[in-house]
Amino acid sequence: MPTSTETKVGGTPSLARLRCIQCDAEFDRAAQDFRCSACGDLLELFYPAWTASSYSPATLKHTWQKRKLSRELADQSGVWRFRELLPSLDYSRIVTLREGNTPLYELPRCAHAAGLDTLLGKHQGMNPTGSFKDTGMTVAISVARQESFSWVGCASTGNTSASMAAYGAHGGLRSLVLIPQGQTAWGKLSQALDFGAVTCQLRTDFDGCMRVLTEVVRRYPVYLLNSLNPYRIEGQKTAAFELMEQLDWQVPDHVVVPGGNLGNCSALGKGFLELRKLGLIAKLPKISVIQAEGANALLRTIRETGGKRLVSVQAETQATAIRIGNPVSWKKAVRVLEATGGRCEQVSEAGIALAKAEIGADGVGCEPASAVTLAGLKKLVGHGFVSRNERVVLVLTGHLLKDPDYTIRFHRGALPPDSDQREAPLLAGHRHSPVELEADADAVLRVLEAVEKAPSRS
Ligand code: F0G
Repeated sequence: MPTSTETKVGGTPSLARLRCIQCDAEFDRAAQDFRCSACGDLLELFYPAWTASSYSPATLKHTWQKRKLSRELADQSGVWRFRELLPSLDYSRIVTLREGNTPLYELPRCAHAAGLDTLLGKHQGMNPTGSFKDTGMTVAISVARQESFSWVGCASTGNTSASMAAYGAHGGLRSLVLIPQGQTAWGKLSQALDFGAVTCQLRTDFDGCMRVLTEVVRRYPVYLLNSLNPYRIEGQKTAAFELMEQLDWQVPDHVVVPGGNLGNCSALGKGFLELRKLGLIAKLPKISVIQAEGANALLRTIRETGGKRLVSVQAETQATAIRIGNPVSWKKAVRVLEATGGRCEQVSEAGIALAKAEIGADGVGCEPASAVTLAGLKKLVGHGFVSRNERVVLVLTGHLLKDPDYTIRFHRGALPPDSDQREAPLLAGHRHSPVELEADADAVLRVLEAVEKAPSRS
Protein backbone atom coordinates (compact mmCIF):
# COMPACT_ATOMS: atom_id res chain seq x y z
CA MET A 1 0.00 0.00 0.00
CA PRO A 2 1.52 3.39 -0.89
CA THR A 3 2.12 5.69 2.04
CA SER A 4 3.62 9.06 2.72
CA THR A 5 5.97 10.05 5.49
CA GLU A 6 6.29 13.69 4.50
CA THR A 7 5.02 15.67 7.46
CA LYS A 8 6.59 19.06 7.22
CA VAL A 9 6.24 21.84 4.68
CA GLY A 10 8.74 24.56 5.45
CA GLY A 11 7.78 24.89 9.10
CA THR A 12 7.68 23.23 12.48
CA PRO A 13 6.23 19.71 12.68
CA SER A 14 2.84 19.39 14.34
CA LEU A 15 3.79 18.25 17.80
CA ALA A 16 0.47 18.19 19.59
CA ARG A 17 -0.29 18.33 23.31
CA LEU A 18 -3.52 18.00 25.25
CA ARG A 19 -4.84 20.88 27.33
CA CYS A 20 -7.88 21.26 29.56
CA ILE A 21 -10.28 23.88 28.21
CA GLN A 22 -11.15 24.99 31.75
CA CYS A 23 -8.03 24.87 33.96
CA ASP A 24 -5.34 24.84 31.23
CA ALA A 25 -3.61 21.76 32.72
CA GLU A 26 -1.50 20.10 30.02
CA PHE A 27 -1.06 16.40 29.30
CA ASP A 28 0.84 14.17 26.87
CA ARG A 29 -1.74 11.40 27.14
CA ALA A 30 -5.43 11.45 27.93
CA ALA A 31 -7.19 9.34 30.58
CA GLN A 32 -9.61 6.62 29.39
CA ASP A 33 -12.59 8.98 29.69
CA PHE A 34 -10.82 11.92 27.99
CA ARG A 35 -11.56 14.17 30.94
CA CYS A 36 -9.03 16.46 32.61
CA SER A 37 -7.61 14.56 35.59
CA ALA A 38 -7.31 17.85 37.50
CA CYS A 39 -10.81 19.33 37.09
CA GLY A 40 -12.87 16.88 34.99
CA ASP A 41 -13.52 19.21 32.05
CA LEU A 42 -12.92 18.55 28.34
CA LEU A 43 -9.52 18.39 26.66
CA GLU A 44 -8.40 19.90 23.39
CA LEU A 45 -5.30 19.41 21.28
CA PHE A 46 -2.96 22.30 20.68
CA TYR A 47 0.34 22.75 18.93
CA PRO A 48 2.78 24.58 21.24
CA ALA A 49 5.24 25.46 18.49
CA TRP A 50 2.74 27.19 16.22
CA THR A 51 3.17 30.90 15.65
CA ALA A 52 1.92 33.21 12.91
CA SER A 53 5.17 32.51 11.02
CA SER A 54 5.33 28.72 11.52
CA TYR A 55 4.28 28.04 7.94
CA SER A 56 4.26 29.83 4.66
CA PRO A 57 0.50 30.05 3.88
CA ALA A 58 1.15 30.01 0.13
CA THR A 59 3.29 26.85 0.40
CA LEU A 60 0.71 25.09 2.54
CA LYS A 61 -2.12 25.95 0.13
CA HIS A 62 -0.07 24.77 -2.82
CA THR A 63 0.96 21.52 -1.10
CA TRP A 64 -2.62 20.65 -0.13
CA GLN A 65 -3.84 21.33 -3.63
CA LYS A 66 -1.04 19.28 -5.20
CA ARG A 67 -1.80 16.25 -3.05
CA LYS A 68 -5.19 15.94 -4.73
CA LEU A 69 -3.37 14.49 -7.75
CA SER A 70 -1.27 12.05 -5.73
CA ARG A 71 -1.78 8.29 -5.40
CA GLU A 72 -0.39 8.24 -1.86
CA LEU A 73 -2.85 6.87 0.69
CA ALA A 74 -2.60 9.83 3.07
CA ASP A 75 -2.88 12.30 0.19
CA GLN A 76 -6.11 10.77 -1.12
CA SER A 77 -7.82 11.40 2.20
CA GLY A 78 -9.49 14.80 2.42
CA VAL A 79 -8.40 14.82 6.07
CA TRP A 80 -4.77 13.65 5.95
CA ARG A 81 -4.13 15.88 2.96
CA PHE A 82 -4.01 18.65 5.61
CA ARG A 83 -1.66 16.72 7.91
CA GLU A 84 0.61 19.66 8.72
CA LEU A 85 -2.24 20.90 10.92
CA LEU A 86 -3.00 17.50 12.49
CA PRO A 87 -1.24 15.49 15.20
CA SER A 88 1.67 13.69 13.57
CA LEU A 89 1.20 9.92 13.41
CA ASP A 90 2.84 7.05 11.58
CA TYR A 91 1.15 7.68 8.20
CA SER A 92 1.87 4.13 7.06
CA ARG A 93 -0.61 2.94 9.71
CA ILE A 94 -3.48 5.39 9.40
CA VAL A 95 -6.99 3.98 8.95
CA THR A 96 -8.63 5.80 6.06
CA LEU A 97 -11.58 5.18 3.76
CA ARG A 98 -10.67 8.28 1.64
CA GLU A 99 -12.93 10.52 3.72
CA GLY A 100 -13.38 14.25 3.13
CA ASN A 101 -13.10 15.79 -0.35
CA THR A 102 -16.85 16.39 -0.13
CA PRO A 103 -18.73 18.60 -2.60
CA LEU A 104 -19.81 22.19 -2.13
CA TYR A 105 -23.17 22.55 -3.88
CA GLU A 106 -25.12 25.57 -5.00
CA LEU A 107 -28.65 25.51 -3.57
CA PRO A 108 -30.64 27.99 -5.68
CA ARG A 109 -34.12 26.92 -4.57
CA CYS A 110 -33.06 26.93 -0.95
CA ALA A 111 -31.53 30.40 -1.43
CA HIS A 112 -34.88 31.59 -2.76
CA ALA A 113 -36.75 30.00 0.16
CA ALA A 114 -34.41 31.72 2.64
CA GLY A 115 -34.55 35.09 0.87
CA LEU A 116 -30.89 35.11 -0.21
CA ASP A 117 -29.28 35.73 -3.59
CA THR A 118 -27.12 32.60 -3.35
CA LEU A 119 -26.56 29.75 -0.91
CA LEU A 120 -23.99 26.98 -0.67
CA GLY A 121 -24.17 23.56 0.99
CA LYS A 122 -21.02 21.73 2.08
CA HIS A 123 -22.28 18.16 1.93
CA GLN A 124 -20.49 16.18 4.60
CA GLY A 125 -23.05 13.43 4.03
CA MET A 126 -21.03 12.52 0.95
CA ASN A 127 -18.36 10.94 3.16
CA PRO A 128 -17.77 7.16 2.92
CA THR A 129 -20.34 6.18 5.55
CA GLY A 130 -22.69 9.06 4.74
CA SER A 131 -21.92 11.54 7.51
CA PHE A 132 -19.36 14.08 8.70
CA LYS A 133 -18.27 11.69 11.44
CA ASP A 134 -15.83 9.97 9.07
CA THR A 135 -13.48 12.96 9.03
CA GLY A 136 -12.99 12.70 12.78
CA MET A 137 -13.07 8.93 12.89
CA THR A 138 -10.05 8.47 10.59
CA VAL A 139 -7.89 10.41 13.06
CA ALA A 140 -9.24 8.96 16.31
CA ILE A 141 -9.29 5.33 15.07
CA SER A 142 -5.75 5.74 13.77
CA VAL A 143 -4.70 6.90 17.25
CA ALA A 144 -6.56 3.96 18.86
CA ARG A 145 -4.70 1.53 16.63
CA GLN A 146 -1.33 3.14 17.23
CA GLU A 147 -2.00 3.01 20.97
CA SER A 148 -2.66 -0.76 20.55
CA PHE A 149 -6.29 -0.80 21.67
CA SER A 150 -8.30 -3.77 20.44
CA TRP A 151 -11.74 -2.34 21.32
CA VAL A 152 -13.30 0.99 20.36
CA GLY A 153 -16.67 2.19 21.67
CA CYS A 154 -19.21 4.97 21.40
CA ALA A 155 -22.67 6.06 22.47
CA SER A 156 -24.54 7.27 19.44
CA THR A 157 -27.73 8.49 17.86
CA GLY A 158 -26.57 6.44 14.84
CA ASN A 159 -24.01 8.18 12.66
CA THR A 160 -21.06 8.01 15.04
CA SER A 161 -21.69 4.28 15.48
CA ALA A 162 -21.94 3.68 11.72
CA SER A 163 -18.70 5.53 11.15
CA MET A 164 -16.85 3.98 14.08
CA ALA A 165 -17.93 0.48 13.09
CA ALA A 166 -16.69 1.04 9.52
CA TYR A 167 -13.31 2.49 10.47
CA GLY A 168 -12.93 -0.03 13.30
CA ALA A 169 -13.55 -2.92 10.92
CA HIS A 170 -11.21 -1.43 8.32
CA GLY A 171 -8.50 -1.02 10.93
CA GLY A 172 -8.96 -4.50 12.44
CA LEU A 173 -10.45 -3.25 15.73
CA ARG A 174 -13.57 -4.49 17.51
CA SER A 175 -16.43 -2.04 18.00
CA LEU A 176 -18.88 -1.61 20.88
CA VAL A 177 -21.94 0.48 20.01
CA LEU A 178 -24.45 1.79 22.56
CA ILE A 179 -27.58 3.26 20.97
CA PRO A 180 -30.96 4.27 22.38
CA GLN A 181 -33.54 1.58 21.67
CA GLY A 182 -36.11 2.54 19.04
CA GLN A 183 -34.57 5.97 18.32
CA THR A 184 -31.96 5.20 15.69
CA ALA A 185 -32.67 5.49 11.96
CA TRP A 186 -32.56 2.14 10.16
CA GLY A 187 -29.88 3.20 7.68
CA LYS A 188 -27.48 3.90 10.52
CA LEU A 189 -28.31 0.80 12.56
CA SER A 190 -27.89 -1.42 9.49
CA GLN A 191 -24.43 0.02 8.89
CA ALA A 192 -23.27 -0.82 12.42
CA LEU A 193 -24.57 -4.38 11.98
CA ASP A 194 -22.97 -4.84 8.56
CA PHE A 195 -19.62 -3.62 9.83
CA GLY A 196 -19.76 -6.21 12.61
CA ALA A 197 -20.11 -3.97 15.66
CA VAL A 198 -21.31 -5.41 18.96
CA THR A 199 -24.48 -3.34 19.02
CA CYS A 200 -26.36 -2.80 22.29
CA GLN A 201 -29.74 -1.08 22.15
CA LEU A 202 -30.16 0.36 25.63
CA ARG A 203 -33.53 1.17 27.18
CA THR A 204 -32.66 4.83 27.57
CA ASP A 205 -31.93 7.90 25.45
CA PHE A 206 -28.60 9.07 23.97
CA ASP A 207 -27.64 10.81 27.21
CA GLY A 208 -28.23 7.56 29.10
CA CYS A 209 -26.06 5.66 26.60
CA MET A 210 -23.29 8.22 27.11
CA ARG A 211 -23.48 7.73 30.88
CA VAL A 212 -23.18 3.96 30.56
CA LEU A 213 -20.30 4.17 28.08
CA THR A 214 -18.35 6.49 30.37
CA GLU A 215 -18.53 3.83 33.09
CA VAL A 216 -17.65 1.02 30.66
CA VAL A 217 -14.45 2.76 29.46
CA ARG A 218 -13.37 3.34 33.06
CA ARG A 219 -13.73 -0.38 33.78
CA TYR A 220 -12.54 -1.97 30.53
CA PRO A 221 -9.90 -1.01 27.92
CA VAL A 222 -12.30 0.33 25.32
CA TYR A 223 -11.07 3.40 23.43
CA LEU A 224 -13.80 6.05 23.63
CA LEU A 225 -14.79 7.54 20.28
CA ASN A 226 -17.43 10.13 21.10
CA SER A 227 -16.63 13.72 20.23
CA LEU A 228 -15.23 14.46 23.66
CA ASN A 229 -12.27 12.54 22.23
CA PRO A 230 -10.25 15.54 20.98
CA TYR A 231 -8.70 13.54 18.12
CA ARG A 232 -12.20 13.34 16.56
CA ILE A 233 -12.37 17.14 16.69
CA GLU A 234 -8.98 17.41 14.96
CA GLY A 235 -10.23 15.40 12.00
CA GLN A 236 -13.55 17.22 11.82
CA LYS A 237 -11.87 20.64 11.80
CA THR A 238 -10.44 19.85 8.34
CA ALA A 239 -13.89 20.53 6.85
CA ALA A 240 -13.10 24.21 7.47
CA PHE A 241 -9.80 23.87 5.56
CA GLU A 242 -11.43 22.09 2.66
CA LEU A 243 -14.27 24.60 2.51
CA MET A 244 -11.82 27.50 2.35
CA GLU A 245 -9.91 25.74 -0.42
CA GLN A 246 -13.17 25.30 -2.36
CA LEU A 247 -13.97 29.00 -1.90
CA ASP A 248 -10.51 29.98 -3.11
CA TRP A 249 -9.72 31.20 0.43
CA GLN A 250 -12.46 33.84 0.35
CA VAL A 251 -13.98 33.62 3.84
CA PRO A 252 -17.80 33.33 3.78
CA ASP A 253 -19.85 35.66 5.97
CA HIS A 254 -21.73 32.84 7.70
CA VAL A 255 -21.37 29.11 8.28
CA VAL A 256 -24.48 27.41 9.68
CA VAL A 257 -24.23 24.05 11.47
CA PRO A 258 -26.66 21.73 13.28
CA GLY A 259 -26.06 21.29 16.99
CA GLY A 260 -26.43 17.99 18.86
CA ASN A 261 -23.59 16.96 21.14
CA LEU A 262 -21.87 20.13 19.84
CA GLY A 263 -18.62 18.53 18.69
CA ASN A 264 -18.96 19.59 15.08
CA CYS A 265 -19.44 23.32 15.62
CA SER A 266 -16.51 23.18 18.06
CA ALA A 267 -14.38 21.48 15.43
CA LEU A 268 -15.24 23.91 12.64
CA GLY A 269 -14.60 26.86 14.94
CA LYS A 270 -11.21 25.41 15.91
CA GLY A 271 -10.37 24.92 12.25
CA PHE A 272 -11.16 28.51 11.29
CA LEU A 273 -9.36 29.92 14.34
CA GLU A 274 -6.23 27.93 13.48
CA LEU A 275 -6.33 29.09 9.86
CA ARG A 276 -6.45 32.66 11.09
CA LYS A 277 -3.66 32.12 13.62
CA LEU A 278 -1.41 30.69 10.91
CA GLY A 279 -2.20 33.50 8.50
CA LEU A 280 -4.15 31.47 5.92
CA ILE A 281 -7.25 33.63 6.36
CA ALA A 282 -7.58 37.15 7.68
CA LYS A 283 -11.05 36.98 9.27
CA LEU A 284 -13.54 34.44 10.62
CA PRO A 285 -16.98 33.52 9.35
CA LYS A 286 -19.79 33.87 11.88
CA ILE A 287 -20.56 30.29 12.90
CA SER A 288 -24.20 29.80 13.91
CA VAL A 289 -25.57 26.67 15.55
CA ILE A 290 -29.13 25.45 14.98
CA GLN A 291 -30.99 23.10 17.30
CA ALA A 292 -34.39 21.45 17.19
CA GLU A 293 -36.86 23.15 19.55
CA GLY A 294 -37.23 19.89 21.46
CA ALA A 295 -33.47 19.47 21.93
CA ASN A 296 -32.40 23.04 22.60
CA ALA A 297 -29.93 22.74 25.46
CA LEU A 298 -27.38 25.15 23.96
CA LEU A 299 -30.02 27.75 23.17
CA ARG A 300 -31.36 27.64 26.72
CA THR A 301 -27.84 27.62 28.16
CA ILE A 302 -27.12 30.88 26.33
CA ARG A 303 -30.50 32.53 26.95
CA GLU A 304 -30.87 31.52 30.59
CA THR A 305 -27.29 31.58 31.91
CA GLY A 306 -25.39 33.66 29.35
CA GLY A 307 -23.47 30.51 28.40
CA LYS A 308 -22.10 30.03 31.94
CA ARG A 309 -23.93 26.85 33.04
CA LEU A 310 -25.41 23.98 31.03
CA VAL A 311 -29.20 23.80 31.01
CA SER A 312 -29.97 20.14 30.22
CA VAL A 313 -33.29 19.23 28.58
CA GLN A 314 -35.32 16.05 28.06
CA ALA A 315 -34.73 15.85 24.31
CA GLU A 316 -37.47 15.08 21.79
CA THR A 317 -37.31 15.56 18.02
CA GLN A 318 -37.94 13.55 14.86
CA ALA A 319 -34.44 14.61 13.76
CA THR A 320 -33.10 11.71 15.83
CA ALA A 321 -29.42 12.45 15.12
CA ILE A 322 -29.63 15.56 17.34
CA ARG A 323 -32.00 14.15 19.97
CA ILE A 324 -29.54 15.08 22.73
CA GLY A 325 -30.38 16.91 25.94
CA ASN A 326 -27.04 17.01 27.71
CA PRO A 327 -24.47 18.04 25.09
CA VAL A 328 -20.93 17.16 26.10
CA SER A 329 -19.17 19.96 24.18
CA TRP A 330 -21.43 22.85 25.21
CA LYS A 331 -18.56 24.92 26.62
CA LYS A 332 -16.53 24.58 23.44
CA ALA A 333 -19.60 25.56 21.41
CA VAL A 334 -20.26 28.67 23.52
CA ARG A 335 -16.65 29.72 22.94
CA VAL A 336 -16.98 29.28 19.18
CA LEU A 337 -20.15 31.39 19.12
CA GLU A 338 -18.38 34.07 21.15
CA ALA A 339 -15.17 33.98 19.10
CA THR A 340 -16.92 34.16 15.73
CA GLY A 341 -19.96 36.29 16.62
CA GLY A 342 -22.42 33.58 15.53
CA ARG A 343 -25.90 32.94 16.93
CA CYS A 344 -27.78 29.95 18.28
CA GLU A 345 -31.32 29.36 16.96
CA GLN A 346 -34.00 26.75 17.42
CA VAL A 347 -36.40 25.43 14.79
CA SER A 348 -39.74 23.61 14.86
CA GLU A 349 -40.44 20.11 13.56
CA ALA A 350 -42.45 21.60 10.69
CA GLY A 351 -39.59 23.96 9.87
CA ILE A 352 -37.19 21.01 9.72
CA ALA A 353 -39.52 18.95 7.49
CA LEU A 354 -40.04 21.85 5.09
CA ALA A 355 -36.32 22.66 4.92
CA LYS A 356 -35.48 19.01 4.26
CA ALA A 357 -37.96 18.92 1.38
CA GLU A 358 -36.50 22.16 -0.01
CA ILE A 359 -32.97 20.76 0.09
CA GLY A 360 -34.37 17.71 -1.70
CA ALA A 361 -35.95 19.98 -4.32
CA ASP A 362 -32.46 21.24 -5.16
CA GLY A 363 -31.53 17.66 -6.05
CA VAL A 364 -29.17 17.41 -3.12
CA GLY A 365 -31.05 15.98 -0.14
CA CYS A 366 -29.91 15.34 3.41
CA GLU A 367 -31.10 13.77 6.64
CA PRO A 368 -33.45 15.70 8.95
CA ALA A 369 -30.74 16.84 11.39
CA SER A 370 -28.86 18.51 8.53
CA ALA A 371 -31.98 20.34 7.37
CA VAL A 372 -32.14 22.33 10.61
CA THR A 373 -29.45 24.53 9.03
CA LEU A 374 -31.79 25.84 6.32
CA ALA A 375 -34.70 26.17 8.75
CA GLY A 376 -32.44 28.13 11.12
CA LEU A 377 -31.02 30.26 8.32
CA LYS A 378 -34.54 31.45 7.48
CA LYS A 379 -34.87 32.66 11.06
CA LEU A 380 -31.46 34.34 10.98
CA VAL A 381 -32.48 36.15 7.79
CA GLY A 382 -35.84 37.04 9.35
CA HIS A 383 -34.08 38.63 12.35
CA GLY A 384 -31.79 40.62 10.04
CA PHE A 385 -28.66 38.76 11.26
CA VAL A 386 -27.99 37.47 7.74
CA SER A 387 -28.61 39.76 4.78
CA ARG A 388 -29.64 38.94 1.24
CA ASN A 389 -26.29 39.43 -0.46
CA GLU A 390 -24.11 37.74 2.16
CA ARG A 391 -22.21 34.55 1.43
CA VAL A 392 -23.61 31.70 3.49
CA VAL A 393 -22.58 28.04 3.73
CA LEU A 394 -24.83 25.40 5.26
CA VAL A 395 -23.03 22.34 6.61
CA LEU A 396 -25.14 19.34 5.56
CA THR A 397 -24.01 16.66 7.95
CA GLY A 398 -25.77 13.48 6.85
CA HIS A 399 -26.92 11.74 3.67
CA LEU A 400 -30.58 11.57 2.65
CA LEU A 401 -30.51 7.75 2.69
CA LYS A 402 -29.59 7.60 6.37
CA ASP A 403 -33.23 8.00 7.38
CA PRO A 404 -35.56 6.94 4.54
CA ASP A 405 -38.31 6.24 7.05
CA TYR A 406 -38.58 9.94 7.88
CA THR A 407 -38.74 10.84 4.19
CA ILE A 408 -41.43 8.28 3.41
CA ARG A 409 -43.51 9.34 6.40
CA PHE A 410 -43.21 12.96 5.26
CA HIS A 411 -44.41 12.20 1.73
CA ARG A 412 -47.29 10.10 3.08
CA GLY A 413 -48.39 13.08 5.17
CA ALA A 414 -47.57 11.50 8.56
CA LEU A 415 -44.94 14.15 9.36
CA PRO A 416 -44.51 16.73 10.82
CA PRO A 417 -46.89 16.44 13.80
CA ASP A 418 -48.00 20.09 13.47
CA SER A 419 -47.48 23.06 11.18
CA ASP A 420 -48.72 26.65 11.14
CA GLN A 421 -50.98 28.24 8.52
CA ARG A 422 -48.09 29.52 6.45
CA GLU A 423 -46.17 26.22 6.49
CA ALA A 424 -49.06 23.85 5.77
CA PRO A 425 -49.51 24.74 2.05
CA LEU A 426 -45.73 24.86 1.53
CA LEU A 427 -45.38 21.41 3.05
CA ALA A 428 -48.27 20.10 0.94
CA GLY A 429 -46.54 21.41 -2.21
CA HIS A 430 -43.49 19.31 -1.42
CA ARG A 431 -45.23 16.00 -0.78
CA HIS A 432 -44.94 13.41 -3.54
CA SER A 433 -46.81 10.19 -2.86
CA PRO A 434 -46.16 7.32 -5.27
CA VAL A 435 -49.08 6.66 -7.68
CA GLU A 436 -50.23 3.04 -8.02
CA LEU A 437 -51.34 2.17 -11.57
CA GLU A 438 -52.03 -0.76 -13.86
CA ALA A 439 -49.11 -1.56 -16.21
CA ASP A 440 -50.58 0.61 -18.94
CA ALA A 441 -48.96 3.49 -20.89
CA ASP A 442 -52.27 5.37 -21.16
CA ALA A 443 -52.58 5.41 -17.40
CA VAL A 444 -49.03 6.80 -17.06
CA LEU A 445 -49.71 9.44 -19.73
CA ARG A 446 -52.84 10.56 -17.90
CA VAL A 447 -50.70 11.14 -14.80
CA LEU A 448 -48.21 13.20 -16.83
CA GLU A 449 -51.02 15.31 -18.28
CA ALA A 450 -52.49 15.94 -14.85
CA VAL A 451 -49.08 17.06 -13.56
CA GLU A 452 -48.59 19.39 -16.56
CA LYS A 453 -51.97 21.02 -15.89
CA ALA A 454 -51.34 21.50 -12.17
CA PRO A 455 -50.01 24.94 -11.11
CA SER A 456 -46.20 25.08 -11.14
CA ARG A 457 -44.49 24.67 -7.76
CA SER A 458 -41.30 26.53 -8.53
N1 F0G B 1 -26.04 16.00 12.08
C1 F0G B 1 -25.98 14.67 12.07
C2 F0G B 1 -26.41 13.97 10.82
C3 F0G B 1 -25.52 13.97 13.19
O1 F0G B 1 -25.45 12.65 13.17
C4 F0G B 1 -25.15 14.69 14.35
C5 F0G B 1 -24.70 14.01 15.56
C6 F0G B 1 -25.24 16.08 14.30
C7 F0G B 1 -25.68 16.71 13.16
C8 F0G B 1 -24.83 16.92 15.44
O2 F0G B 1 -23.44 16.99 15.54
O3 F0G B 1 -23.20 16.16 17.86
O4 F0G B 1 -21.31 17.26 16.69
O5 F0G B 1 -23.29 18.59 17.41
N2 F0G B 1 -24.70 12.76 15.73
C9 F0G B 1 -24.09 12.06 16.83
C10 F0G B 1 -24.14 10.58 16.62
C11 F0G B 1 -24.47 12.51 18.15
O6 F0G B 1 -24.10 9.81 17.59
O7 F0G B 1 -24.17 10.14 15.48
P1 F0G B 1 -22.77 17.27 16.95
